[in-house]
Amino acid sequence: MFDTMTVTKAAGALIGALLFLLLMNWAASSIYNIASSGHGGEGEHAQAYTIPVEETGGESEPAAEEGPDFATVLASADAAAGEKVFGKCKACHKLDGTDGTGPHLNGVVGRAVASISGFNYSDGMKAHGGDWTPEALQEFLTNPKSVVKGTKMAFAGLPKVQDRANLIAYLQSQQ
Ligand code: HEC
Repeated sequence: MFDTMTVTKAAGALIGALLFLLLMNWAASSIYNIASSGHGGEGEHAQAYTIPVEETGGESEPAAEEGPDFATVLASADAAAGEKVFGKCKACHKLDGTDGTGPHLNGVVGRAVASISGFNYSDGMKAHGGDWTPEALQEFLTNPKSVVKGTKMAFAGLPKVQDRANLIAYLQSQQ
């Protein structure tokens, strides 16, 4: 248990700290007032508070940059690395023209969506439409369930753009 003396000391320290902050605040504002009521016009006043910061120019760029677009990443993608990424698809997709849990993926790049006859696609996939262009594939593979609502492909997605590009480069080589 704290004794009364400890509590009093603690309270004293706290009040002391608060007082100190108040004093600093007051001191800061009085300096400001002196400066702003001093000689010189607005321009000089504003200048008194300009902190010279080196303009590096590059500092704000990474935040604004969204990275190269997908076509650019795909152009230099590594199909051999993509073969490794395909390891995540292998449990459901084959590349020999036969279907498993998912439809075969040889020749999928450029193929019409949900076009393998005999494969029982979900309604969501059938309604998706279009062709599996590299762009459509990379969008789907980023987050399958949010891109094709109701898909029965149970796969979380490939968050890394480099993985998607490498994988699609590999699929392009599998006709
Ligand atoms: C757990 C099994 C499973 C995994 C893992 C999986 N898929 Fe699928 N995939 C499916 C199923 C099932 C479908 C059919 C989806 C539908 O009809 O909604 C499908 C459909 C697809 C289609 C659409 C094919 C068409 O003919 O329209 C593509 C493209 C595809 N998957 C790519 C991939 C890739 C690439 C991976 C690995 C990164 C992957 N899938 C991982 C099960 C899976």
